[in-house]
Amino acid sequence: MQTWEAIRSRRDVRSFEDRQIADDHLDEILESGRRSPSSQNWQPWDFILVRQRDQLLQLSHVWRGAGHVAQAAAAIALIAPVPVDERQRDRLQYDLGQATMSIMLAAASLGVGSGHSSVGDQDLARTVLGLPGDKFCAYLISLGYPAGRPLTLIRRPDRRPFDEVVHRDRW
Ligand SMILES: Cc1cc2nc3c(=O)[nH]c(=O)nc-3n(C[C@H](O)[C@H](O)[C@H](O)COP(=O)(O)O)c2cc1C
Repeated sequence: MQTWEAIRSRRDVRSFEDRQIADDHLDEILESGRRSPSSQNWQPWDFILVRQRDQLLQLSHVWRGAGHVAQAAAAIALIAPVPVDERQRDRLQYDLGQATMSIMLAAASLGVGSGHSSVGDQDLARTVLGLPGDKFCAYLISLGYPAGRPLTLIRRPDRRPFDEVVHRDRW
């Protein structure tokens, strides 16, 4: 799938087939995250690839919106340093957003669905993932083949209208 097609096909997937993702495809998805740009090339992220069902089940309890992690074929935990101040926190969030989108588009280009989850219970995430004290789990990304509905072009995306969003030259 080409980039433009992947952009138009990606959606948040929360229900997955019971089917593994090939290792080389997982590596391609992770490599896409690693190649993401970041503020001053800081690369604040580490990625933990989780495939064990018991770990995925436990991680599905870190947030009320994390239920989809339980049945995913895999999840990528986005790990980041605990920010020292507001400025660093803001840079971090922007950088993590870039990595997330690269990961999701790489997944979509392989026909693999992905879904975001926030992380509320940091203690649980820390225990399941064995994180050191100076790191936290910023987000989880579920990965798997979408159940029932493969990724196909979304003709009418649930988004604000183009002409409302796009401004030319001035507000
Ligand atoms: C920062 C962020 C946090 C999100 N957290 C969750 C979450 O905890 N659980 C979930 O199911 N979806 C989560 N989402 C997914 C959004 O709900 C989703 O991207 C949005 O509804 C648009 O969906 P679509 O891309 O499928 O159209 C999150 C998205 C972002 C960008």
